[in-house]
Amino acid sequence: MTIEAAKEKLKKYGQEHLLKYYEELSAEEQVALLTQIDETDMTVLSSVSHKSELSKKGRITPLAAMELSEIEKNRDSFKNIGLTAIRDGKVGAVLLAGGMGTRLGSDDPKGMYNIGVTKKLYIFECLINNLMEVTNEAGKPVHLFVMTSDKNNDKTVKFLNEHKFFGYDENYVHFFKQEMAPASDYNGRIYLEEKGKLSTSPNGNGGWFISLKNAGLLDIVKKEGIEWLNIFAVDNVLQRIADPVFVGATISKDCVVGAKVVRKAAPDEKVGVMCLEDGKPSIVEYYELTEELMNAKNEKGDPAYNFGVILNYLFSVQALEKLMGNLPLHIVEKKIPYLDESGRLVKPEEPNGYKFENLVLDMIHKMDSCLPFEVVREKEFAPIKNKTGVDSVDSARELLKKNGVEL
Ligand code: UTP
Repeated sequence: MTIEAAKEKLKKYGQEHLLKYYEELSAEEQVALLTQIDETDMTVLSSVSHKSELSKKGRITPLAAMELSEIEKNRDSFKNIGLTAIRDGKVGAVLLAGGMGTRLGSDDPKGMYNIGVTKKLYIFECLINNLMEVTNEAGKPVHLFVMTSDKNNDKTVKFLNEHKFFGYDENYVHFFKQEMAPASDYNGRIYLEEKGKLSTSPNGNGGWFISLKNAGLLDIVKKEGIEWLNIFAVDNVLQRIADPVFVGATISKDCVVGAKVVRKAAPDEKVGVMCLEDGKPSIVEYYELTEELMNAKNEKGDPAYNFGVILNYLFSVQALEKLMGNLPLHIVEKKIPYLDESGRLVKPEEPNGYKFENLVLDMIHKMDSCLPFEVVREKEFAPIKNKTGVDSVDSARELLKKNGVEL
């Protein structure tokens, strides 16, 4: 992009300040900045002015989950169907590891965090151990697609290579990077994080399928005949991946998505719950759950919105390919490092602006059918979001110990 074209684009979006230090940069840095300006999607910035209109929900009604008792009754047949699908190479897994993990506060990618006590046990290692329990039983590895971002890709790839993929067959591991989005102040002005670099942040976990496709990895999915992709978060160390019972149940129920869910601990627990929105599967966030919905009962007399999602979904590839249109944008407040007026880097203690994200839950809403599949929280849900307290390294260690994992 030429400097003239850059000026024109920046004028259109009110971002002329991004060239403030242009003349001070080396020729190489100038090119890098112009390229970044060229590649950055600035259309997202205008959403700041109508932020409150972005998350309007439709009509919410209950969506019944497949509960533990029903799963137990059919466990063997579901498991057989799932294992057969895995052995036939029809199941792949996608690790969503592009997030910044700012709450945990480590400089390294979250998966590199060592949660061991008497020995080293990394988050990535825990996940791969869990996956290998399934692939060893099936006698066949599943393709594992790992989503990273510009911010953590190199470290992630290096780390997993250095640790020989914790015993997983490296021919079955494929990395891809998600897209980045600009990070701005509260008025939609993009911050500079260096004199020649715009502040950016990964564009949310909802961009995973497009990024997988853009990286050319859908070709592998097709070539290998993968029909189902199990996406999962990096931070749940009790995560069951490619769980054959879950795969079998989703296939048996003829659904295009399966969603692992846990029974809520209390009606006001802060988790997103499965529901129907205007007749299509959806997730209502805890802060969108009205008093009326919180107290609503189903025909069995149980709370109607009682199953929280844990970011473990099984998508039909065919349904993913039919996904049309853009996902809605979410604006999230965030602490964004930036250059102040005098050009000094400031690392704020409190949120000072917005990042722009697409979320997986909006993909669910574009699907025709979804099976919420209940799992036992203490056995499958140990998220690590914080260093201490709720959903932390401490709480995950306790849960791992309870499940017989040596730390
Ligand atoms: P979180 O919502 O916990 O976000 O991600 P985060 O960025 O990792 O952590 P904080 O909020 O800064 O502390 C849930 C899952 O989605 C992935 C994360 O890596 C995690 O597995 N994710 C999130 C992405 O892959 N890309 C993103 O842009 C955001």
